[in-house]
Amino acid sequence: MTPSPAWAPDSWRSRPAAQQPIWPDEDELKRVHAHLTGLPPLVFAGEARHLTRALGQAANGRAFVLQAGDCAESFAEFSADAIRDKLKVILQMAVVLTYGAGLPVVKVGRIAGQFAKPRSSPTELVGGETIDSFRGHMVNDDLPERSARIPDPRRLVAAYQQSVATLNLLRAFTKGGFADLNQVHAWNQEFVASSTEGQQFEDIAEGIDRALRFMSACGINLTAEDSLHEVDFWTSHEALILDYEEALTRRDSLTEEWYDCSAHMLWVGERTRQIDGAHCEFLAGIRNPVGTKIGPTATPDDVVALCERLNPERTPGRLTLITRLGADRVDDGLPPLLEAVRDEDHPVVWICDPMHGNTFSADGGRKTRRFDDILAELTGFFRAHRGAGTWPGGVHVELTGDDVTECLGGVEDIVEGQLDQRYTTTCDPRLNARQSLDLAFAVAEMLRG
Ligand code: PEP
Ligand code: CO
Repeated sequence: MTPSPAWAPDSWRSRPAAQQPIWPDEDELKRVHAHLTGLPPLVFAGEARHLTRALGQAANGRAFVLQAGDCAESFAEFSADAIRDKLKVILQMAVVLTYGAGLPVVKVGRIAGQFAKPRSSPTELVGGETIDSFRGHMVNDDLPERSARIPDPRRLVAAYQQSVATLNLLRAFTKGGFADLNQVHAWNQEFVASSTEGQQFEDIAEGIDRALRFMSACGINLTAEDSLHEVDFWTSHEALILDYEEALTRRDSLTEEWYDCSAHMLWVGERTRQIDGAHCEFLAGIRNPVGTKIGPTATPDDVVALCERLNPERTPGRLTLITRLGADRVDDGLPPLLEAVRDEDHPVVWICDPMHGNTFSADGGRKTRRFDDILAELTGFFRAHRGAGTWPGGVHVELTGDDVTECLGGVEDIVEGQLDQRYTTTCDPRLNARQSLDLAFAVAEMLRG
């Protein structure tokens, strides 16, 4: 596809750009921008095209997408163990979904670039003082102090470097043996293995072992089957800070098309999806697979307009619509959106984000979500798709491999009084590894219908 001749990576600058930091030092920003422009891309355009094809299968009802990771990656909590444990839980969930529903699962991390956060309010009140809100480690620090919240462009480079190291390890793990199906038991972390859902996972793992032994006994050369020993794992993040995304956008030498090489897939959030705004302008010109969040205020016309703007050529897999309406709105709100897009013949991947429409503040002030509300939105999502004859193409969740206490409920039933025990997120509350696995079993059940 030829990009519009008028489009360039900086075209967004002529549009209103919501949620951009006010950088105190413009010269420093320019220096950083120039520096980033000269650094190597994180991903290759061919990989992004490969992901578009994989997502195209999900648009056509032949695959399911699991998009998962932190709400906000952190500069402070950056370690090989944290990356490995997050990957473990995502691989576990993917196995549960593949085994349970018999479908290929497209695995997309909110990782290796998810460092910027849109905020409902530009400031917050801390100890009687109004300070700037935390906007993700790509912009400022989360410490509740005035000086920590000053945007610093050098953080863009730090985010790039952390993304490079993260992606490098992910590539090593997923292609180097860790994601081998013979390792399936090793993904069950100790604190998960001892739980009901951990046991359920062990049952699946044993089933996989038996199947592999059976195929081998039949004379199939399993060593030669790459798909048993490695997985495709893709990266994604919200394309929020456009100075960063622009600097990593490169022209593909094979096709002459523009790709944002900061990640395989990019999405715009609920607060930046204005049809004439800077973020949609940016996404419209890059050839990566792109997504947009769809919140409760979006009308059927808005959604169809987003499809026209972001996928005028109607390429399956190019556009993913990530609905996050809330458990109490999904039954009424989702069907009209599905019908409108279906009637216009737009081939989209429909993904349910059951997290962002279900956030509330607990009594102690902690932001949290109830596991039951998350399940309820997912149930409504599947129901709405069955009704409209459209394909429920995936799920988008915020999770961590750690044993945190950030979301309420689940089999172990975390209650409000426990939120303070291990609440380590820098932004939104995440499912812990057990809750994530629990969710995967529930979704596999929903997929089986
Ligand atoms: C997010 O995904 O972390 C987020 C801020 O989502 P939304 O744009 O849907 O509010
Ligand atoms: Co979030």
